Amino acid sequence: MDTQAYSKISNAALIQELYRRYRCQEEALRKRIVLLGMPGAGKGTHSAKMLARFCMCHLSTGDLLREEVRSGSEFGKKLKGIMERGELIEDEVMCNLIKQQLAKPACANGAILDGFPRTIPQAEKLDQILKQSGQSIDQAIFMNVQEQIVVDRLGGRWTHLNSGRTYHYKFNPPKVHGVDDVTGEPLVQREDDKEATIRNRLHVYQTKTSPIIDYYRKKGILFEVNAERPVNDIWKDIKTIVKTK
Ligand code: AP5
Ligand code: MG
Repeated sequence: MDTQAYSKISNAALIQELYRRYRCQEEALRKRIVLLGMPGAGKGTHSAKMLARFCMCHLSTGDLLREEVRSGSEFGKKLKGIMERGELIEDEVMCNLIKQQLAKPACANGAILDGFPRTIPQAEKLDQILKQSGQSIDQAIFMNVQEQIVVDRLGGRWTHLNSGRTYHYKFNPPKVHGVDDVTGEPLVQREDDKEATIRNRLHVYQTKTSPIIDYYRKKGILFEVNAERPVNDIWKDIKTIVKTK
């Protein structure tokens, strides 16, 4: 970020951010945590809270792919069509992407994997990648929610593109309508948050992603959270799981 970009952020927000970084370094847990759950379960919402509290890196494969689409690259153009249909990107592409990201210094304090793995081959490959550096997944948190609830949530979602922060016009509104709380930049609706695409994303989740729940259950590292409640109640449970188990 250049000086001009920082000038858009208030002094109070910058000081708050410095304090956050100082405090969460003290609380760094150095865990690698997978967040599982349907589209709209609240993975992004709670990743932002975990990032703020525990200084782990946040690897949202959806955000990384959307960044590539926005870059206008040839590869981004291919991704755009697949994502707008709600289909999955090839396992090999996704595994290479996550391998590069996990090697970044920001992930040394631990990582939140949001949206990856999404298939059994991705879960198996992730274990292999981590094993190469003597690491493993410590916890998989399954955010359990019914389909009708997520359809309502996704229909009203607003996203800040640069950070991936999400809001909901009714359940989690920004302080100022249509504007990100931290940067003051505009919020947008995601292309794949249209009803027909949401339905296909849910179908893909049920057929290809949900078997991962058992994959982690068998390893004894699955923690289930009722994700149908208000954000603050869910966050209390997630904090307890992350800090004590
Ligand atoms: P991705 O970006 O990962 O989307 P997703 O899995 O469909 O999940 P969402 O981001 O829609 O939901 P979320 O759980 O983060 O919910 P949020 O917190 O925002 O992936 C997009 C696409 O990229 C895929 O379809 C695929 O094409 C591709 N892709 C990504 N990873 C891939 C991979 N590994 N392999 C292959 N392809 C991949 O919350 C939703 C809304 O609800 C918000 O408005 C929020 O404010 C609100 N809300 C949250 N919690 C609550 C609550 N408790 N009460 C009320 N409202 C709430
Ligand atoms: Mg998300």
